[in-house]
Order: sequence, then C-alpha cells, then structure tokens
Amino acid sequence: MRGNFRLRQLAPLGITAIALLTLAACAESYPNTTFDPHSDLGRAIDDLWDRLLLLGTIVFVLVEAALLFVVFRYRHRPTDTGKPPQTHGNSVLEIMWTLIPAFILLFIAVPTVKTIFQTQANAPAGALEIEVIGHQWWWEFRYPEYKIVTANEIYIPTGRTINLKMTSQDVIHSFWIPQLSGKRDVIANRTNYIWFKADSTLGPAVWNGFCTEYCGASHAKMRFRVFTVKPDQFASWVAGQQKPAAYGAAPNAPPPMLPPFPGARHTNEGSNPTPPINPAVTAPTGAATATLASAGPAYSFPRNQAEFEYAKPHTPVPGGLSFTPGLTGNAARGQQVYSSAACIGCHTITGNPMSMGSAGPNLTHFGSRATIGAGSFPNTPAYLALWIKNARAMKPGILMPTLGKNQYDPQLKQPVTTGGLDDQQIADIVAYLTSLK
Ligand code: CUA
Repeated sequence: MRGNFRLRQLAPLGITAIALLTLAACAESYPNTTFDPHSDLGRAIDDLWDRLLLLGTIVFVLVEAALLFVVFRYRHRPTDTGKPPQTHGNSVLEIMWTLIPAFILLFIAVPTVKTIFQTQANAPAGALEIEVIGHQWWWEFRYPEYKIVTANEIYIPTGRTINLKMTSQDVIHSFWIPQLSGKRDVIANRTNYIWFKADSTLGPAVWNGFCTEYCGASHAKMRFRVFTVKPDQFASWVAGQQKPAAYGAAPNAPPPMLPPFPGARHTNEGSNPTPPINPAVTAPTGAATATLASAGPAYSFPRNQAEFEYAKPHTPVPGGLSFTPGLTGNAARGQQVYSSAACIGCHTITGNPMSMGSAGPNLTHFGSRATIGAGSFPNTPAYLALWIKNARAMKPGILMPTLGKNQYDPQLKQPVTTGGLDDQQIADIVAYLTSLK
C-alpha cells in the first residue's frame, strides 16, 4: 500500500518531466545538433542513427514488455506452495533467441558497413580540396587550388564536394562541424580525409566548428567558423583572398584613421560581456581603397549575419584587462610598429614583405574575419586591442606573447618591461590589422 501511495505521488512529477523534455524538442534553433544535417555526409550518418534508434526502441519495448509480463504473471502469491515446475533446456526457444537478434543485427550491420565504406572512400573527382592543419589552438586552412591561406574561418561553396585533407602540427586534435560533417581525428605525420557536399539548397549560412579531442589548456578555445555560400559568392571571395593585403601593398597609401578608441569596459561578470560596439570602422580611404574598388569589392559573409547568436563567441574577458579609452589608431604607423615588433616572426601578411612568419595564423585578410583567438572573441577593435595587449591572459597557454607594456605575462610569470607596446602603439596596430579586409 505504502508503495502505491509513493507511486501516486511521483507520477505527476514523472509526467511533468516527460512533458518538459518533449517540449524542449520544439525549440527552433539547435545550431550544434547533428540531428538537422545539411550535407550528404551528415544525412548518411543521421539516417543510420535513425535506423539504430528505431530498431533499438523496438527491441527495448519487446524485451521490457516480456520482462514485465513474466514478473507480474509469475510473481509469488500467498497461495503458492512448493517449487514451481523446473525446466531444463528448450531448443526451440534457444534457436529463436539466437536467430531473432542475428536477424536484427543484419539490418543494422549492412547499412552501417555500407556507410563506413562510403565515407572512407576517396572523394569524387572535382572535389574542392582544403588542407586543414591543426595547431595548439587554432586551425590553418589552405586552398591549394586557389593558393589561399587563411585561419579559423573557411568559406565553402554549396553544391560542390569539399575534400578536407587533415594533419596536425603538434598534438592530436579532432575536426567537427556538427551540422555538416562527422568527426575526424587530426594527427601529426598522418593525413586523414573527410569529404561532404553542403546542400545546394542552402543560402549563405554560418556554422560552428570545434576541436573535439582534448589537446591542452585552450582546447575549448579551438573553434572555427564555416561559411557556406553560393558558388558565385565563393568565386568572388576567392578573388578577394588571392589579392595581397588591402593595406600597405600599395606604396605610400595615405594612413587610414580609426575613430577614437571606445572605452574598454570589460568585466568578468557573467559569461556574456557586451563590449562597446564600434560600428565606425570603415574601409581605409585613399589608394588602398582605390586598388580594391577597381577590381570590384570581394564578397565576404555579412558581418551582422556572421554574428548570429549561436556563432557569436561568449568568452569572458579576464577582469583587470582594460584599454585606454579615446585613442585614435593610425594604420600607417601601425604597419610600422607591427613590422618592427615580434608580430612578423610568427605571422604572414601577403603584401607586407617584413611579415613572413608561419608559427601563427596568416593575417593577410584579417580585417574580413568575424572572430579572433580561434573563435574565442568577436573581431572588433576593442577585443583586438585587448588581445594584442595580453593574449595569454585571454587564452591560456598560447604562443602569442603578452605584448602590452607592464602587462603580467601568465606564462613567464613576470610583467613585460622592455620592448612592451603602449596603448597608442597597440591602437595603431589595431588600425592596421582592421584595414586588412
Ligand atoms: Cu585541438 Cu582540442
């Protein structure tokens, strides 16, 4: 009786929980779900999952029903006396419970093995090859067909098979775009492939990508963005990326000016800092713009769409890191500071002959990217200034040194004294990098 009473108390709770779980499935946007695939590979994996879930559910229901039936039908009753009839062996039953699971496994194994062979096969001819190189903790992307190098953001045309050729510069990483591809390990001294075709029905869209193999301190900040765009938009983007840097490639370009620096009011409160937005950063004026305009503006994914809630980084800025408000950056000066600072040892900017390093991300078209720090922060002047000032405080363990004068370097465990950059120099570098559309 007591058991019945508790059951009656718990039933409403259970029903509410089930109802809530069911309602949760009605939410509109789950950008990182694998159950809403937008590529051939994604659908192949999803179909397999659906089939397994269906067969698994049928087996579960039948087995549990049989179990409950036996438990209730043959339970001990007060009128029972002595042992129930004893049984030793039942050939028919044993053959049945061997054959039925074997039959079910056939329905699981055949499509599974077929899908594995499909996804392990070589990519079809005509696929667009993109090299993926994992670094601690960012992604290098190379398009050998177009001689483009970029970082942490890839553009892919819809309706064309993309063949990703992956390797690692250091430890094991894993590449994953939940709504477009399965996962692949990214391993040094080994080349793994994954290929898929984003649906041609897709409009321009942004997708989250992740490293899904623990790879060190900033594993969680090893993200990337994938932009699926129409073939003509892709062609335009390629043409833009093939050009040298938008600023500084033309000799004696007049210095673009950034508007006064917004106050950096970053705090550590909450997980979603709202840095001051600086909408006034525009293309550089003068010669640099003229060179670009003559060739027509290259396509890049609209920034307001690239910052859909789900694609917007939410990493908090460490408390105590701030930037002098009201500074005006000068790109020409910034180029000089950049070219004589440690930056050039690690970064390449095509068109800036001083900048040929390869340890860090290629920055040739940095200004057109939506995020910094491998998807960790929005690419705005305010965040970029803090990043240059003390990247190691914003993303633990990284190679990028702490550059701000008197900033505490968490890896060297001492403040930067000689050779550190002051806020004005950083504002100038920000103006320079921001102009590299
Ligand atoms: Cu790379 Cu985790």
